[in-house]
Amino acid sequence: MTAYLDYAGMGKLRPRAVAAMQEALVDVLPHGSAEVGRIFPARRRARALAAGLLDCSTDEIAFVTNTSTGLHLVADGLDWRAGDEVVVFDRDFPANVHPWRMHDVRLVWVPMRDGGYRMEDVEAAISPATRLVAVSHVNFATGFRVDLDAVCALAHRVGALVSVDAVQSLGVLPLSVADTPVDFLAAGAHKWLCGPVGTGIFFSRREHLPHLRLPGGWFGFEGANDMLTKGAGHFRYDLSPLPTAARAEGGMYNVLGMVGLAETLAELSEVGIPAIAERVRHLTQRLCDGLRSAGCAISASTGGDDWSGIVGFTHPTRESVPFAQELVAAGYHVSHPDGLVRVAPHHWTDEAEVDAFLRAITLRIR
Ligand SMILES: Cc1ncc(COP(=O)(O)O)c(C=O)c1O
Repeated sequence: MTAYLDYAGMGKLRPRAVAAMQEALVDVLPHGSAEVGRIFPARRRARALAAGLLDCSTDEIAFVTNTSTGLHLVADGLDWRAGDEVVVFDRDFPANVHPWRMHDVRLVWVPMRDGGYRMEDVEAAISPATRLVAVSHVNFATGFRVDLDAVCALAHRVGALVSVDAVQSLGVLPLSVADTPVDFLAAGAHKWLCGPVGTGIFFSRREHLPHLRLPGGWFGFEGANDMLTKGAGHFRYDLSPLPTAARAEGGMYNVLGMVGLAETLAELSEVGIPAIAERVRHLTQRLCDGLRSAGCAISASTGGDDWSGIVGFTHPTRESVPFAQELVAAGYHVSHPDGLVRVAPHHWTDEAEVDAFLRAITLRIR
């Protein structure tokens, strides 16, 4: 028996996405412009599904290559002012720290305590100088889930923006940006969305789009295509930027990726995020119970609303890295970020996989 418990590292591309991409790869792309029009609609379909997933308008969605690129759109697109502060979180994944560091802003850190973050620390970090709070919905190593509603309430009280790295939650935890008023969000699709590597989703709330300096390439402008389709007299440079987030997509894109992403998003919406979350909660609870009774220490509380698909733990006697490597060599796919062993099951994980993994842990207690 083996177990795949590394959805926080990389999701397994869903078979439906594989089939759709295979067809595009074999039947469409080798024919160049003669056939590619068949798969151009995939991006529109993916955009509608992504908007459905986040509960926003399609105008507020852009596709990006990964989480980092999406977060950079915000960091590089805002008009930073002298004295601006950005609230960041200690031990957050570097993709959600470096983009802000590259600008002339002061970083104010929320400390990590017991693998998680306390709202009183977030409140203490926010001041009238706070321009933006850069938060990850779920910590990549400990699995601690941040209460985004509470963060938004604290940030918006002083007029600060909230930008969310959702790569460790989108596809497994419900998140409606209609209910939870985050301003920006980015998530690569290669983890919990089980989509193609090199695809990701970016959300910008509509009211920010006019002020966000997004790269427009050549295709991010009204009527950009007219010079190619409408004949003479339509070649001009003085075009207006598209009012939608899609202007950040710029030029030619990963058409094959969009075929796969549309398919995986369709499957997620058919199964439904609430059902996915319920099953993942059940599996992670089983993992936590089993790991605790084997004497392992869970890195963050997973008993309350801070649970996520990630369980990070340490073994009572073994170093995390060699221990995780031994598990992987035995067929139990886990990872070992930041000194922890990390297990991350998804909706499609079999209970037998979880039980086999727990037996493997128990056998290695010495
Ligand atoms: C919280 C978080 N942000 C970002 C990333 C990766 O970003 P990208 O999609 O740009 O590779 C990871 C990867 O592990 C992550 O856990």
